[in-house]
Amino acid sequence: MSGRSKVIIITGASSGIGRATALRAADHEDHLVLVARGAGALEDVARECRASGAASVMVLPCDVGDDSAVAACFEKALTAHSVIDAVVHAAGVVAYGRTEEIPPDVFDGVLRTNLTGSVNVARHAVSTFRTQRAGTLVLIGSVIGHISVPSMSPYVISKWGIRALARQLLVENRDMPGVHIAYVAPGGVDTPIYEQAANYDGHIGRPPPPIATPEKVARIALRLLERPRARSQVNLSNEVIRLGFSVLPGIFDMLVGPLFRLAAIDGTSPIEPHRGNVLASHEAGNKLHGGQRGALAGIARNALARVRVAASGSAK
Ligand SMILES: NC(=O)c1ccc[n+]([C@@H]2O[C@H](COP(=O)([O-])OP(=O)(O)OC[C@H]3O[C@@H](n4cnc5c(N)ncnc54)[C@H](OP(=O)(O)O)[C@@H]3O)[C@@H](O)[C@H]2O)c1
Repeated sequence: MSGRSKVIIITGASSGIGRATALRAADHEDHLVLVARGAGALEDVARECRASGAASVMVLPCDVGDDSAVAACFEKALTAHSVIDAVVHAAGVVAYGRTEEIPPDVFDGVLRTNLTGSVNVARHAVSTFRTQRAGTLVLIGSVIGHISVPSMSPYVISKWGIRALARQLLVENRDMPGVHIAYVAPGGVDTPIYEQAANYDGHIGRPPPPIATPEKVARIALRLLERPRARSQVNLSNEVIRLGFSVLPGIFDMLVGPLFRLAAIDGTSPIEPHRGNVLASHEAGNKLHGGQRGALAGIARNALARVRVAASGSAK
C-alpha cells in the first residue's frame, strides 16, 4: 500500500484525534473520506486538508450508530475511488456519571456510537477489505477499555467492547494476511471530548496526566498503515495502570476512586446535568485541541480545594 496515495476513511474526522489524523494524512497527499455527524465542522476540516495537500477530500456526514448510513458511506467511497486502503475509526462520545445516574437514552447513546458504531464500521471495512484481499482497520480504543473507573460507566463498557471487537476481528481474519486489524489505546489526550461529554457527575472531566496530543495519536494510527501491529498503547503509563488493575485488583479498586477525582475531574468547576454531544452533534465544540494542558496544576487546585473544605469542616 505504500508508494502511492492511499484512500483512507476517517471517522470522527471533525475533532480531536480524527481531525489530527485527517490533517496528517493530508500532508501525505492521501485521498480522504471524512465522516462525522456534523457537516459544517467536517467542511472546515476538508478545507484545511485540501490546503495541506490532500489528493482529494470527500465529506460524508453520517452517524456511525446507523448501519445503513455507514453502508452508504462505504458505497460512495468505493464508487469514487474503487478501493479503500484503510479506515481509521475515531468517532466517540463520553458521558460522566454512575450507572444508575445517567438517563437511559444517554447511556444507550454512548453504547450506540462507541460500540455499535465500531461494529458497524468494522462490518463494512472488513467486508470491503476481504473482497480486496487487502486493507487496514485502525480502531481507537482507550486505556479505559482495560480498567474500571468511577463515573464513566457507559464509556468504560463501550471501550471494553471495542477491545473485544478488535480481538474478535483479529481471530476472524487470520486467513487473510493482507487484511490488518489494529487497536490503539490512548490514555489522556488534549481534545474537546471532555467539554463535549454528557455530564451527570456534577463536575467536568479532564484528561489525567500524562496528556498526549491528538497529533501523537494520529502519528501512531497512520504509522500502523505502513507497519501493521495488532495492539498499541499510546503512553507507557497505560502499561502501569493495566498491570495494577490485573495484578492488584483490591488495591486498584480502593485507590481508583480518590485518584480519579483528583486527576481526572475538575473538582473546582461544578456543572448542571446535561446531555453534551451524545445524542446530537455540537459542532461548535469540534476542534483539533481541547486546551487541556496543565494537568499537574489541575491536580494541585483539586488538592487545595479539598484541604480548604477539610479545614473549614474542622473549624466548625
Ligand atoms: N481525548 C482523550 O483523552 C481520549 C482518550 C482515550 C481514547 N479516546 C478515544 O479517541 C476517539 C476520539 O476522541 P477525541 O478525544 O478525538 O474526541 P472529540 O474531539 O470529541 O471527537 C469526536 C469525533 O467523533 C464524532 N462523532 C461523535 N459521535 C459520532 C457518531 N455517532 N457518528 C459519527 N461521528 C461521531 C464527532 O463529530 P460529531 O459530533 O459532529 O459527530 C467528532 O468528530 C474516541 O473513540 C475516544 O473515546 C480519547
